[in-house]
Amino acid sequence: MNSLPILHLLLFLLGFQAPQAQGRSLSTYQPKQYLKMISEIMDLLNTSPSRSEETLDPNEINTLLNTTLLRPNLDAFLNATKNFYNNESLIWKNLKEFLPLLPNPTSRGEPIYIENNWDDFQKKLKKYLEALNNFLLRTSTES
Ligand SMILES: *[C@@H]1O[C@H](CO)[C@@H](O)[C@H](O)[C@H]1NC(C)=O
Ligand SMILES: *[C@@H]1O[C@H](CO)[C@@H](O)[C@H](O)[C@H]1NC(C)=O
Ligand SMILES: *[C@@H]1O[C@H](CO)[C@@H](O)[C@H](O)[C@H]1NC(C)=O
Repeated sequence: MNSLPILHLLLFLLGFQAPQAQGRSLSTYQPKQYLKMISEIMDLLNTSPSRSEETLDPNEINTLLNTTLLRPNLDAFLNATKNFYNNESLIWKNLKEFLPLLPNPTSRGEPIYIENNWDDFQKKLKKYLEALNNFLLRTSTES
């Protein structure tokens, strides 16, 4: 009996099970699926035009784009989302999918402050989606 097919089967099984045992990790996730979730959120945000085309404060932009703060900022957005949507909404569900992907912060920084008004939420989340998008593209080209 030829043992080659069995070796292939073993390699296949090993390759298939290893990522599952580790749970979702950066090397096994599907960047496309996450990029799609980002654009779904963006589409929803863009359905209501921003009343004020007012720009963000440079400090706030730094906070939103800071990689160390990706995770604390996500927590802040999940919390702020509750002011406008319930936990069954697409925005909430999609944002929550990013929790296991983002590294826990090595240093404690102040996350973004989001006012309880739609304009503020909308413009800050749009900027934050940019940061998430950059993070995905960076990690998917590293491996
Ligand atoms: C969550 O949101 C509520 C209501 O907007 C706010 O009072 C609270 O401080 C927020 N908590 C965190 C951890 O951001
Ligand atoms: C949404 O909130 C309700 C009420 O607090 C809770 O029963 C339900 O489990 C939540 N669903 C999710 C997906 O977190
Ligand atoms: C990002 O935030 C951390 C924590 O607040 C801070 O130490 C670091 O200097 C910031 N990085 C940039 C590039 O602003």
